[in-house]
Amino acid sequence: MIGLASMFMLASCVRPLDDDAADDAVIPAGVQRVFDENCISCHDGRTEFSLLAEASPTIVRTRSVQRSELLLVELGRIDRSYLAIKVIPNAQGRDKDIMPPPPATLAPEDQLLIIGWIAGATLPDEGTDGDATEETGLQIQGCSIEDYEPSGQSPVEAGIGVGLIPPDIADVLERNCGCHYVDQPARHLLRIDTWDDFHVERGGDPVHAHARSRLHSAAGPMPPLSCQIENGSNISTEDFERLDTWYEASAPDGVDWVPY
Ligand code: HEC
Repeated sequence: MIGLASMFMLASCVRPLDDDAADDAVIPAGVQRVFDENCISCHDGRTEFSLLAEASPTIVRTRSVQRSELLLVELGRIDRSYLAIKVIPNAQGRDKDIMPPPPATLAPEDQLLIIGWIAGATLPDEGTDGDATEETGLQIQGCSIEDYEPSGQSPVEAGIGVGLIPPDIADVLERNCGCHYVDQPARHLLRIDTWDDFHVERGGDPVHAHARSRLHSAAGPMPPLSCQIENGSNISTEDFERLDTWYEASAPDGVDWVPY
């Protein structure tokens, strides 16, 4: 079982779409197993769509009912695949619509199998142990702007001036918070492009306070757990501490911030 989850290597959760991919989509055996074990008790064809083995390949062509601008699966584009959005905790900033519905949960490695497949990772064959010399554990690498959109421009307004995000903090944001800076659904939720964005009040607290509690959240960490950068961590210790220190100081601007 561990073997099937090994050898994930992919650059990001958004990859340029392979034009041929959608034509002959084959659901990898490991992914189908995850559907079988977690989804088909409900998605068996009696509801909106079926994840039963004989029908599941059509999810690459099926439009989401709830978000009709998205397909259930657009290979290579996690951000445009509603099925991915539904299984990633907090991808939409909320957990109430998560699949499978609570109290059921998807094991993290199963979640990453689905995400990895959609993102374009090469999955090992189910049933083989893979190469024992390969590192075990999943590696979804990078949630930087570049990982999501190789030619992406950073919208982060940084500088050492008044009302600007300090440059060292901007680096951390650009390296870890790419979803918020490229054109995709998550972007509509929380803007963190400017220093002002971090100081907008939401529910009585500034955005930087919310961001800090999410940075520390075990249940719904931000960056999310799918941003596995090294040793199963979603952010490097150095970046975590730098960001945390900045938040703790109430997110000072470029003039007031003494780089950590
Ligand atoms: C207990 C029943 C149940 C299970 C198990 C379940 N779902 Fe669902 N699913 C639903 C229901 C009900 C809806 C529609 C309402 C909603 O989104 O909450 C839905 C909606 C969805 C949608 C949105 C469909 C659309 O057209 O917009 C996706 C995608 C989805 N489920 C994927 C999954 C996946 C993947 C799994 C397994 C990991 C899963 N579901 C497990 C009941 C279930």
